[in-house]
Amino acid sequence: MDSESARRGRTTAVVTDYRPPTDVSDMDILIDETRIGDRIKAMAAEIEADHPDGDEIHLVCVLKGGFVFMSDLVRSMSPRVTMDFIALSSYGKSTKSSGEVRLLKDLDSGLEGRRVVIVEDIVDTGLTLTYLQDILRARAPRSLKTACLLSKPSRRLVDVKVDYIGFSIEDKFVIGYGLDYGEKYRNLAHIAVLSGE
Ligand code: PRP
Repeated sequence: MDSESARRGRTTAVVTDYRPPTDVSDMDILIDETRIGDRIKAMAAEIEADHPDGDEIHLVCVLKGGFVFMSDLVRSMSPRVTMDFIALSSYGKSTKSSGEVRLLKDLDSGLEGRRVVIVEDIVDTGLTLTYLQDILRARAPRSLKTACLLSKPSRRLVDVKVDYIGFSIEDKFVIGYGLDYGEKYRNLAHIAVLSGE
């Protein structure tokens, strides 16, 4: 115990073998933690290389799903990164193909003249990303690129440009690493497929 902890009457336990309690009995790991980590480092290097030295890179994370990817990506990038968050939601799966997207939380700062990179967990039909790219482009950024950890090319309904893709996957319902099923499982360290999918 250090003297500050002792003064406050706290003890500090050192736990080395803790694993979060995860019931993985009904899911199959599709992409494990190590592969995700390696791929994100490579994506971070690509993004850095594509932007002129010294220019700020402004990352726009799409909530909620993008928060874990964003968190790891920024920690593999240089201090020239700034970040903001936007929250979107489709009007519901039944109307998703209509392309209606709700803007739940807008960005805190403007994009004019900035080098912007959208950070998204998954591109599926492409409708959400198309909407987002349109509204952000209208804010006159100097450049606008998009990074998605996952892509399901077979599901695409619109031709949307994604500059950086982590993994292209089959059309299976995936959870973990930000992606949810009924708002659960976003905290899994890996990408999994629910059994029976
Ligand atoms: C998911 C995902 C993308 C979008 C992709 O968001 O995070 O934003 O769907 O689908 P699309 O390419 O077919 O438009 P969701 O609406 O489930 O919200 P969430 O991120 O809060 O889970």
